[in-house]
Formats: sequence, structure tokens, C-alpha cells
Amino acid sequence: MTAQIIDGLALSRKLRSAFAQQVQTLTAAGKRPGLAVILVGENPASQVYVRNKIKACEETGIHSVLEQHPASITQAELLARIAALNNDPAIHGILVQLPLPEHIDADAVIEAISPAKDVDGFHISSAGALMTGLAGGFWPCTPHGCLKMLDDIGYELRGKHAVVVGRSNIVGKPMAMMLLARSATVTICHSATPDLAAMTRQADVLVAAVGREKLITADMVKPGAVVIDVGMNRNAEGKLCGDVDFEAVKEVASWITPVPGGVGPMTITMLLANTIESAQRA
Ligand code: GUN
Repeated sequence: MTAQIIDGLALSRKLRSAFAQQVQTLTAAGKRPGLAVILVGENPASQVYVRNKIKACEETGIHSVLEQHPASITQAELLARIAALNNDPAIHGILVQLPLPEHIDADAVIEAISPAKDVDGFHISSAGALMTGLAGGFWPCTPHGCLKMLDDIGYELRGKHAVVVGRSNIVGKPMAMMLLARSATVTICHSATPDLAAMTRQADVLVAAVGREKLITADMVKPGAVVIDVGMNRNAEGKLCGDVDFEAVKEVASWITPVPGGVGPMTITMLLANTIESAQRA
């Protein structure tokens, strides 16, 4: 079997063109969505991510503000900037690009963002809403993008076994909650899982979100499984690659996301969705 490709780029294009229409309508009603992106320091990967987020806003008609601060900014100064953006009516979403320099407590910064503008979905208020199924929060963009891709291929999660490899607050944990909300049976694996392959081989849906090149090999995948690769790694040649050994696993899976062109574009697409949603709620 050769898997069908879940094309995150094509799905992103389709969704973003619908978003551009929604933004036009909101703008005409005097509620143009606005996103503030804060970048601290000069992490090259973060610079690329942030540039792509701003570009996506521009293409969709969303008002965007990029705030760049030196790595020497104090936590108090950063918190003051967030307080100002919390009170800015033109801004509906605030995103602080992670990681932050060591001297800044990232949790304190995230919790300082108004839950109403938490378009990254990292605030405990958003995490709590996701866990309880209550409305009002925002879902983290990367796992939400993964779910959208499963929906786009018409995959029914109810009763399926979903195995999530990785337990981060940004991907693994919220992904598990979203899959559970769709009535999948969910297993979360992590670095202390003794026999990872024994777990992943049970997966009807396998989500890899660890950050290790070729962690998931073909022998770890059940024939016909749907494989979602959240990994964004650089291999020895500097090429972008995921957590899944794509060439081998695509011969076993029924559907698979490529890297690049899979989850990556969907993350930004769902950020746009959250920002529009926030403007609609405001
Ligand atoms: N760093 C890596 N991924 C993300 C993300 O989705 N949001 C933010 N704010 N920082 C990140």
C-alpha cells in the first residue's frame, strides 16, 4: 500500500481564502481582526516562524503588528507590553513567540495575556476550556490543525485508537484532549514509555510530536494507519524533516502528512482562524 498524502498546503490555501472573505466582512463592519506578534531575541527559527505568521496575516487582510525586542528586555518590560496590548482594541490576538530567553519566566508571560486574546491557546484558561469541553477558550493551533486535516479526509475518530507520541503543552497534551473529545481511545506516549513500538503499532491514528528525526519507523506503524507528523527537525544535510521516516512509512500507512507541507502550514492557518474568532467574539 502507498499512503495518500494529506496536503496541508492545499487545505491551508482553501481555508485561508475563506478566511479572507470573513476578514473583509468583519473589516467592513469596523471589526478588522488584529494580531500582535512579540519576538524576543534573535533565534533564527523563531524569526522565520514570525515572518511567516505576519505574511499570512497580510495575505488574509488581518491587521498585524510585529514587536521585536532585544534578548536583554526585562520580564517587567515584557509584561508591560502585554498589558498595553491587552488594552488595545485594535488587537484581538497576542502571540509571544517561544522560546523566550532564560531570564524570562515563559509561564508568567503566557498567563499575563488576556484569555480573550490568547490565540495561541496556551493560557491555563484555554487549556481548562479544552479539557472540560467548555466554550470560550482557544484551541492550540498545531493540534487543531492536525484535527482539521483528519476532518478534511473524512476520518471518523469515534471508537478509534489514537496514539500521541509527545506530551508537550503545545502539541501532545492538547492533541490528546481534542482526540478524546471526538471519542477516540487515546494513549499518550513519552520518553519514559518502555516499549514505544508496541504502543504505536496499536494506533489507528498516530500523531508524532517529539522533535526527533525518523523516530517513527515503518515497523512501528499498523498497516492502514493514518500518520500525522508534527516534527520539524533539521537533518544532517540541513533539510527540514519530521519525526516519521516518511519514505518507509508511506508504504504502510493509508494516509500520511509530509514535512514540509503538512502540519506546518496548518499551524499558521489555525492561528488566523483563532484571530478571526477572537475579533468576532469582541
Ligand atoms: N514556538 C514554537 N511553536 C510555537 C507556537 O505555536 N506558538 C508560539 N508562540 N511559539 C512557538
